[in-house]
Amino acid sequence: MNDFVDPAIFRGVMRRWPSGVTVLTSRADDTIHGMTVSAFSSVSAEPPLVLVCANRQSTTHEVIEAGGVFAVNILDAAQEAISTRFSIVPGPDRFEGVAWTAGSTGAPLIDGALAQLECRVRSAHLEGTHTIYIGEVLAGSFRPDGEPLLYFDGSYRVLDTP
Ligand SMILES: Cc1cc2nc3c(=O)[nH]c(=O)nc-3n(C[C@H](O)[C@H](O)[C@H](O)COP(=O)(O)O)c2cc1C
Repeated sequence: MNDFVDPAIFRGVMRRWPSGVTVLTSRADDTIHGMTVSAFSSVSAEPPLVLVCANRQSTTHEVIEAGGVFAVNILDAAQEAISTRFSIVPGPDRFEGVAWTAGSTGAPLIDGALAQLECRVRSAHLEGTHTIYIGEVLAGSFRPDGEPLLYFDGSYRVLDTP
């Protein structure tokens, strides 16, 4: 018997969950790729670990599998267009017109992001349609100023600060 929650209720509940927006990037040899990801969380401070959830049908998943590294770019409120780009523009053109530099792992760090983490895959857990990657954080940087891009109820938001 399938006693799982009604999918419409599940979607409705998850739409009530506000999140930040990241671009998850990776590199394997000469191939770079990235996609918009909201499923990102801190896991542990000692050692420093984070998690991201990547759909196994995504190209980004393929590149992380091959390269074993990823970077998390936490987007600034001014980067909505980058979030849209990294969720819809087809593969090879995704970085066109986007300024970035290669971090210590080679994964792209996007200019203007609010904060960035560079990670090596520690473990990968297959669940449902996604892989949960646990990353060991090798390096990070952040801007003390700026505001985050947010996602809530299916649309982008910014903080309503005075
Ligand atoms: C706000 C937002 C959040 C998203 N979060 C995730 C996520 O956490 N994990 C995921 O696999 N896809 C997520 N996606 C979908 C991917 O960005 C999208 O499927 C992308 O086109 C995959 O690119 P790729 O196949 O070229 O790697 C999100 C999309 C948006 C707009």
